[in-house]
Amino acid sequence: MVATDNNSSAALDTDGQSYIRVDSVWKVFGRNPERVLEPQYSEQDKSFFQSEFGNVIGLQDVSFQVNRGETFVIMGLSGSGKSTMVRCLIRLIEPTAGEIVIAGEDITKMSDKELIEFRRSKIAMVFQHYGLMPHRNVLDNAGWGLEVQGVKKPEREARTREVLELVGLGGWEASYPRQLSGGMQQRVGLARALAVDTDILLMDEPFSGLDPLIRRQMQDELLRLQTELHKTIVFITHDLNEALKLGDRIAIMHDGKVAQIGSPEDIVLRPEDEYVGDFTQDVRLETILSASKVMVTPKATVMGHQGPRAALHTIGDSDGDAAWVVDRGQRYIGMLSIANAERALRAGVKRFDEAWEYVDREYEAVAPTTSFDELIPMAMGSDFPIPVTDAENMLVGEVHRSALAEALAETSAAEADYAANAAENAALAAAQPVADQGHSQLESAAEAEVELSRARMQPPPV
Ligand SMILES: Nc1ncnc2c1ncn2[C@@H]1O[C@H](COP(=O)(O)OP(=O)(O)OP(=O)(O)O)[C@@H](O)[C@H]1O
Ligand SMILES: [Mg+2]
Repeated sequence: MVATDNNSSAALDTDGQSYIRVDSVWKVFGRNPERVLEPQYSEQDKSFFQSEFGNVIGLQDVSFQVNRGETFVIMGLSGSGKSTMVRCLIRLIEPTAGEIVIAGEDITKMSDKELIEFRRSKIAMVFQHYGLMPHRNVLDNAGWGLEVQGVKKPEREARTREVLELVGLGGWEASYPRQLSGGMQQRVGLARALAVDTDILLMDEPFSGLDPLIRRQMQDELLRLQTELHKTIVFITHDLNEALKLGDRIAIMHDGKVAQIGSPEDIVLRPEDEYVGDFTQDVRLETILSASKVMVTPKATVMGHQGPRAALHTIGDSDGDAAWVVDRGQRYIGMLSIANAERALRAGVKRFDEAWEYVDREYEAVAPTTSFDELIPMAMGSDFPIPVTDAENMLVGEVHRSALAEALAETSAAEADYAANAAENAALAAAQPVADQGHSQLESAAEAEVELSRARMQPPPV
């Protein structure tokens, strides 16, 4: 099956093309791989080719597109073809058939020399097992990609120090890999990939070897970095939660084929087949819904140089109990409650930037990507909305407690509807008489009926 790509969250290139385009790519291991592609076998799958010809299918007619600045996750169980795919992308493995175009260049037609140059300048890769050199210190390990590019030492070291700082390893430059924990070594691997400053980052299960806490830290780190760097990332994982957390879009692979491509919400709420549905059935809605889904335009903002009179006026107009204090550039500073604005008025305060004690500057803002899992406890613990800021700390929205509850209720109702419709369609399809299916058709119609009544009876999951 060729999955189509109908949901893009990042921008296309200026010429309307995706940054990475993979078109009907096959990888067949073993002898005479081409025969697998002959038209008479077009309906066969991996197990057929293995038993019939002894060929292992790594990739079967895989197509997808990645937009510039997007984090595209390829997810699937062990052996589903993830590593083969990411390796074929830059021809570390030669694809058997298909086309791969990256940044407008056809990878499959490049000479070896062009390919090496292209990899060096455009693509950095992070491997699962760090790939650090034991006799080199952190600075030299992280700077290795730049060294290969021929960047001179002073510039190389300056750039490498910057990147080590970025990944939280400032001060560790002189240490050797054996002196670092697994998580720190992985950061060195990440720094090495970031130092060369390529547009594209390929990451093959980079966090799999880490224990859960450090793994979560690395994921947060990557999300944070990405809000600054806007790289085009292809990220491989077999962990669904990791995929849902990091991916703008996710491709689910199964036996060398793409089962579905979509946003985390698509994958969880609208699975296109049973395989994907089984995979995602236990995902809680709170993990896939985020602040951006429910935030509204900030209702009341006050600038630091303004005073309580203006603030009370703004808060009154907004129908709320608080205003956000921002600087002239609309960057978030803190929260001013109506009670504090009144106290400031009585105390004769002229401007808040001369009386910060009235502004709650500890009142935390969240990112648009913050999940409901984090938002709900915050909302429960406060009488005021939650401010939302972007990577530059600009105030971009606010989240009301009531909106969280509404979105959860709406989404689970939509999910229940979807399940009922899907079961109904399956029941209808199965009830169509098909001459050569006989008994099994009756069986599947009965199964579909059961599914249908189950979907209708079940209360929506919350
Ligand atoms: N060099 C090879 N020769 C023969 N078969 C191979 C080769 N490399 C991979 N395969 C097969 O291709 C399929 C996909 O392997 P791949 O390594 O891409 O899976 P994966 O999704 O990355 O799995 P994992 O999560 O375990 O890393 C598997 O069936 C594997 O046995
Ligand atoms: Mg792999």
